[in-house]
Amino acid sequence: MDALPLAAAKPAIPPAFFGERVTWVHHWTDKQFSFRCTRDPALRFVAGQFAMIGLMVDGKPLVRAYSMVSPPWDEELEFLSIKVQNGPLTSRLQHIKAGDTVLIGKKPTGTLLIENLLPGKTLWMVSTGTGLAPFMSLIREPEVYERYEHVVLMHGVREVKELAYHDYIGNDLPAHEFLGEMLQGKLLYYPTVTREAFPTQGRVTTLLESGKACADLGLPPLSPEHDRVMLCGSEAMNADVKALLEARGFTEGSNSEPGTYVVEKAFVTK
Ligand code: A2P
Repeated sequence: MDALPLAAAKPAIPPAFFGERVTWVHHWTDKQFSFRCTRDPALRFVAGQFAMIGLMVDGKPLVRAYSMVSPPWDEELEFLSIKVQNGPLTSRLQHIKAGDTVLIGKKPTGTLLIENLLPGKTLWMVSTGTGLAPFMSLIREPEVYERYEHVVLMHGVREVKELAYHDYIGNDLPAHEFLGEMLQGKLLYYPTVTREAFPTQGRVTTLLESGKACADLGLPPLSPEHDRVMLCGSEAMNADVKALLEARGFTEGSNSEPGTYVVEKAFVTK
């Protein structure tokens, strides 16, 4: 009998993962890209969660934690990734194309959930770089707008071109047939750039500490009385914002006890 064709020798998908087909890839810059893939109807998740995502490499799964960019009601899944030239996963993942297979972990998890926060008036979502990902899902979750009067999305990057989803958030989302009306006047997008000229400049920490972000948005100073905060970004940013919040009396929430802020520690850096 002839040898099996090479395609039949593709490694089997391990039971902890769904093997999904890539449907779209978009490269924002030489350091960031997004992709979409099919979604198994059995995959359930809550806005703000992450799953283990990756590729089969040398017959084994090579995966990292990736927050879902897409909202739970989307038929497909979308992710935002950095590209690190010598990163074990992202050096490979950055080359995926439509039709390729990616691994999607069957058990999404995470702490950036609205149920981990006590009731409040304004929800602040504070991100840097690809830390924007879980907030892209949350800003398309209707329940967020039912719970809060205002939803602030802060996104800090070095250069203007790194403001992934900038046009989508500013133009497409307000015109969205179901969500547009719900988020009008409620969703306050606040992008900031540190190494180039831009209407808002400076680190998210500086803008929060100085009160400039609140003043620009017409909101009262940050207080655990009425504000709730979600953090997702580099370790240094998470630690700095955490210190700033705790100095003002905010307490960290978790899956076992809600608080006045939550932070996502799972973040892909390689
Ligand atoms: P900066 O340009 O001043 O370093 P990176 O690309 O390194 O992940 O950075 C993304 C954004 O996060 C940049 O605007 C960077 O500002 C900012 N940043 C880096 N460290 C911190 C920090 N500790 N707190 C707040 N923002 C930070």
